[in-house]
Amino acid sequence: MEDSSKPRNPHCLVLSYPSQGHINPMLQFSKRLLHKGVKVTLVTTKSISKTLHGSSSCTSIALEAISDGFDDGGIGAAGSPEAYFERFYKVGPESLSELVERLISGGPPPICIIYDALLPWALDVAQKFGLVGAAFFTMSCAVNSVFYHCQKGLLEVPVRKQVLLPGMPPLEPQDMPSYVCDLESYPTFFRVLVNQFSNLDRADWVLCSGVYELEQETADWFMKLLPFRTIGPTVPSTYLDNRIEQVNEYGLSILKPDHDTTMKWLSTKPKGSVVYVSFGSVAELRIDQMQEIAMGLKRSNCYFLWVVRPSEAEKLPQGFAKGTETSQKGLIVTWCRQLEVLSHEGVGLFMTHCGWNSTMEALSLGVVMLVIPQWTDQITNAKYIMDVWRMGLRPLADKERGVVRSEEIVHWIREVMEGERGKEMRENAGKWKRIAGEAAGEGGSSDRNIDEFVAKLGGKTL
Ligand code: UDX
Repeated sequence: MEDSSKPRNPHCLVLSYPSQGHINPMLQFSKRLLHKGVKVTLVTTKSISKTLHGSSSCTSIALEAISDGFDDGGIGAAGSPEAYFERFYKVGPESLSELVERLISGGPPPICIIYDALLPWALDVAQKFGLVGAAFFTMSCAVNSVFYHCQKGLLEVPVRKQVLLPGMPPLEPQDMPSYVCDLESYPTFFRVLVNQFSNLDRADWVLCSGVYELEQETADWFMKLLPFRTIGPTVPSTYLDNRIEQVNEYGLSILKPDHDTTMKWLSTKPKGSVVYVSFGSVAELRIDQMQEIAMGLKRSNCYFLWVVRPSEAEKLPQGFAKGTETSQKGLIVTWCRQLEVLSHEGVGLFMTHCGWNSTMEALSLGVVMLVIPQWTDQITNAKYIMDVWRMGLRPLADKERGVVRSEEIVHWIREVMEGERGKEMRENAGKWKRIAGEAAGEGGSSDRNIDEFVAKLGGKTL
């Protein structure tokens, strides 16, 4: 019999931290909820909503914006991360409360707030209005476990020696998220990541964009402590039958993709011949690292497609012109539709910074990786890509200069594109692609978790 206390089409607010790497997984999760009959309103900040390039794939998801206190520029206008978070944490709860009040009186009233775990105050707002509060983590189970241990005082920081955490391989300091070993460079980000767990025992749900089968023991460990569920990979293509043809973009992009130029160029390249290079939406490379990568790509003699954001473009060496094909067999673009690129048969290797989204996208689409992590969770993601899932290699940085040299890059590109290890990695990649697809597909582990979440919406007891 149907439970009449639960609304037929429950309405959820999905509140994202304002950056591409957070909007993508939360938007994709929103689409999955929509698919299961949930009405979704995606909430970002006023500052970022002004910069988003939308697409028709989002028309069924309502968009709203709250204030972070910097409506004309966001974190960039704040002067420092500390100033940004201080003001956002003060202004955000008031602004979100106003939105909830407006929706309660104007309808359809929301019954749940799914909030980015970086914004833990949203749980207080949810509870103030008697709504279900679901924290959403955009990083891996492993990385969440590291910060959970920090918050509970179970991990001595800064980390200086090997660490053993439940269900995880031994992690050396150089495998840990950067903030945990270096408390001085980014004290605010460290505090924000640790604070995600400060009120989590009050949350009705803890959703993580990881995949159960990829981090089974860590996920099991979390499930014993919290109402924790994996719902990843949050990649549109993985639950479609024919991935290559139906693969889609997420729908909201901070930079405008050079789509036609990219796809036209890719379409002329032989199968598996292109190295796709991207360092995501935030990382800023050292100028000498940028130059070493450029030289490495040139000397490898491979085709390459390199995403260089406008703010990074001035670091390119001479001869690497943006927008046109360079004499080094490469195309440099401002932004692309990464999912379409990764699923193109021309791409043979992804040189990546290992953002969690990029990692899950490559894994879900079966693309092997050359990992050059920069900071934060990327370092631990790189460890898993290399040693746990064994579908990537990490060129090591030169100890003296602290950058990965071009010779290393050439060596490892060749090893992956032509060598035995590349072959082995591609076999592993095929296996993980199948596993990730099954998790997100009908009846898979993540799909079942989302079904459970949707079924219980409206009744707050777990
Ligand atoms: C950051 C962190 O690194 C990440 O680990 C965290 O979980 C979220 O915030 P970011 O550095 O931008 O994100 O990397 P990533 O997580 O890989 O997200 C980038 C997103 O932008 C991906 O979904 C990728 O598909 C997309 N992208 C990137 C494009 O659509 N086009 C591009 O040209 C480059």
